[in-house]
Amino acid sequence: MNITPGRTFLSDPTVSPKGIIVPESPFREFFNPANLESRIRDATEYSLKTGDDRVIGSIIRYEKARFGHDIGEERIVQTVGATNAIDLSMAAILERGDTILIPTPSYFSFWKTAQHRGYNFKVFYSGEENNFLPSLEDMEKNLKPGIKAVGLIHPAFPTGFKMDRDRLIELIDFISSKKVFTILDLIYDFLTYNINDMMRVDAKLGACLERNKEHAVRINATSKIWSAPGIRFGYMVAPEGIALRVADRILSTVSRCPIILSDLYQMLMDGTSSMITDAASDFRQILARNLKEYQRRAEVISAKMSGKGVEVLKSDAGFNVFIKLNHVPNEYEAQWEFLDALYERSGVFLDYGFAFGVPHHPGVPTYARVNLGLSEDRLMWGIEKLAEFHSDYKKK
Ligand SMILES: Cc1ncc(COP(=O)(O)O)c(C=O)c1O
Repeated sequence: MNITPGRTFLSDPTVSPKGIIVPESPFREFFNPANLESRIRDATEYSLKTGDDRVIGSIIRYEKARFGHDIGEERIVQTVGATNAIDLSMAAILERGDTILIPTPSYFSFWKTAQHRGYNFKVFYSGEENNFLPSLEDMEKNLKPGIKAVGLIHPAFPTGFKMDRDRLIELIDFISSKKVFTILDLIYDFLTYNINDMMRVDAKLGACLERNKEHAVRINATSKIWSAPGIRFGYMVAPEGIALRVADRILSTVSRCPIILSDLYQMLMDGTSSMITDAASDFRQILARNLKEYQRRAEVISAKMSGKGVEVLKSDAGFNVFIKLNHVPNEYEAQWEFLDALYERSGVFLDYGFAFGVPHHPGVPTYARVNLGLSEDRLMWGIEKLAEFHSDYKKK
């Protein structure tokens, strides 16, 4: 096939056969011709291998400290970040034409992966009046026959509202009772401001995951909890059959990954392994410090925005806050117009709510997400610019 630079990946039906995977990012901007071609030939799959022994050992200890039970190593697959774990687990569970249900707001990897791989996806939206959280009733209504998997995130991404652990358990039990898979993204695990949530053994959630272990895949990664976004490390704990399907795909391409022999790789695996092991033991202080800082930043942002027409939604959980841009209509074109003008005038770029599944719909406000993990200078500078620009925007 003929691949030309700049070709629009998402809108081109000829560029989505089996074999394309999106290890790093589901954005089309990351695709260049060589990259694309290697994907089409099924020659990429660039996870390192199914696991480094040091890291797998650490994951086993970590999962035990977190969920109170032992996971056999045959159920663990090491991946390139959570993004790669979402992609590979979907690939192991779904076939072309199958459907995944994605309660939104959510993380865009779920539907971008579905688009790239030729799966169908169905979303439903839980609005602000429900704190953006899916309920059991929503799930009962939307989990129709033919759906093979549901993508869930716990506890709170990207809105800052927290889903109660018991509600999550109810959802997983229900989904599994229909013999449907849950792909549970735990990358925001215990990033909540409630100190009682922190790093405790959650035997109740652990028991739920274990009783449904034939239908539950859980995913975690270093970029949020461990605040290590530069390290592309993630993993999944999956039913053995699913882990094997993933491993088969990865192992078939290991010979194309010389990096596993390099010193850098050895160093990274050592580092990652002790990071995770530390998390299982003495991690609370770092986490508490980070959470306090996120909370403080959310409060400062809220204070700076108040009176300027930007509403900062209450948040229970760290890393992001959702803000409401009251002067911007919730229409695709109008939002891009605002974004472009904001970027052009002040250099600030925002992630809109629609990137996380918030629909363009009359009565639904325009939301955007602010990442609290940015460097403080940049974050505060951006917030000032945004507030200023937004309040002028109204006068136009
Ligand atoms: C909910 C969620 N899952 C996964 C990811 C991606 O994780 P990673 O960087 O490990 O691929 C993100 C990144 O923003 C996220 O918000």
